[in-house]
Amino acid sequence: MKGKKDVYTASLGLIGSAIGLGNLWRFPYMVGKNGGGAFLIVYLCFVVLLGAPLMIGEFILGRSSHASIVGAFKSFTPGKPWYLTGGLGVLTSSLILGFYGLVGGWSLKFFYLSSTNAFINKNSSEMGEIFIKFIASPVDPIFWQILFMVITALVLISKIEGSVEKITKIMMPMLFLIIIVLCMKALVLPEIGKGMVFFLKPDFSRITAGGIQAAMGQAFFSLSIGMGVLITYGSFMKSDENLFISALHVIGTDTIVAFLIGVIVFPVAFTYGIDPGSGPGLIFTTLSSLFNEIPGGYGLGVMFFLLLFLAALTTAISLLESVVTCLNNQCKLPRDISVLIATVLITGLGSLTSLSLGVWRETNIFYILDYITVDIFLPVIAMLTSFYIGHVLELKVIQEEMTNNGVQFKHAKILQQMLKFVCPVIIGAVLLIGLVLN
Ligand code: TRP
Repeated sequence: MKGKKDVYTASLGLIGSAIGLGNLWRFPYMVGKNGGGAFLIVYLCFVVLLGAPLMIGEFILGRSSHASIVGAFKSFTPGKPWYLTGGLGVLTSSLILGFYGLVGGWSLKFFYLSSTNAFINKNSSEMGEIFIKFIASPVDPIFWQILFMVITALVLISKIEGSVEKITKIMMPMLFLIIIVLCMKALVLPEIGKGMVFFLKPDFSRITAGGIQAAMGQAFFSLSIGMGVLITYGSFMKSDENLFISALHVIGTDTIVAFLIGVIVFPVAFTYGIDPGSGPGLIFTTLSSLFNEIPGGYGLGVMFFLLLFLAALTTAISLLESVVTCLNNQCKLPRDISVLIATVLITGLGSLTSLSLGVWRETNIFYILDYITVDIFLPVIAMLTSFYIGHVLELKVIQEEMTNNGVQFKHAKILQQMLKFVCPVIIGAVLLIGLVLN
């Protein structure tokens, strides 16, 4: 019984870190931008074909080396430059947190706005204007971003990190519940048909090489692949935890949440005349329009934006944690100093990112940072990690790690070949085609 409970807790922490703005904010934004149903299909293919083997691979690497990100590479190939792959993962985490913290700040602002009833009697185009004006302001979004990052850093410094697990335990079921309620509201909207056709009916003429690359990046981003975080989680996993089942839980939950968000966002967008390709404000403008129109919208709005904020926070904590651990272990800096340095630098980057949506629009930092980290860095690291795992881990190790309660895993060889050749080749090809044809 005890074993069962431990397994449950371990995957819950992992699920909490995987489900975040990637599912709730970035997924509908990307689907909308890249033409709908075709993007969804390509995304799902990447989740199964690349996400599953890579997640299991990262778990195996972590659990068999008992080491985190950089250490795992060092322990299997000491003296070789492979550990730089882990370093690149940590660098990517910090860069991603640059815009993640900003959007986390937006969620906090929208929580504040919804709780003070600021959207009352606003129609969807006024809501769109409020959003555009807010993100273009040189001060307001930076203030909320700083607040978000300070809360994240305080959680790391104070000893309440253990309570994050507890928050996740309450947050996840509530998030699911509110998503189900909103789905039911979305299903009775007048333009449900148009929304669903856009989201579910693949029209492959609308997807470009860049769109395919974006679908791959989104799959890695949403599943937290390619930043070494899963290696660290793997190193904490008990020897009797079934890695296959754990990966299945994380991938299943993550994908269902993203999918249901799509079921909500697109019917709402078509009903209230919001362009699904309108960009990073999509989740904010669609949902606040919905809350304005439906009975009980006030309570639902406050709850939704609170949960959006909490989901962003639990994820930001694990992103910052991985940067801090690296500074702490590799640069031998004290933990509090590491938290301070990482937070100040990342918040500085986030502030530049924010200005690029307003006064420094011509720099495009927000979009460039998002593109480089998610669509280039993550795939490159995932490609290297995949090859590395397939290459250094002996078949015997994979076999052992995947064998549970005496039940032999029969496909170790296939998994190894997938990691060593198939996944890196697919990732490399998508990346190359995306970069050349974009
Ligand atoms: N998967 C997270 C989300 O969907 C984002 C993320 C990517 C992440 N890599 C990570 C979170 C590493 C924690 C650790 O929002």
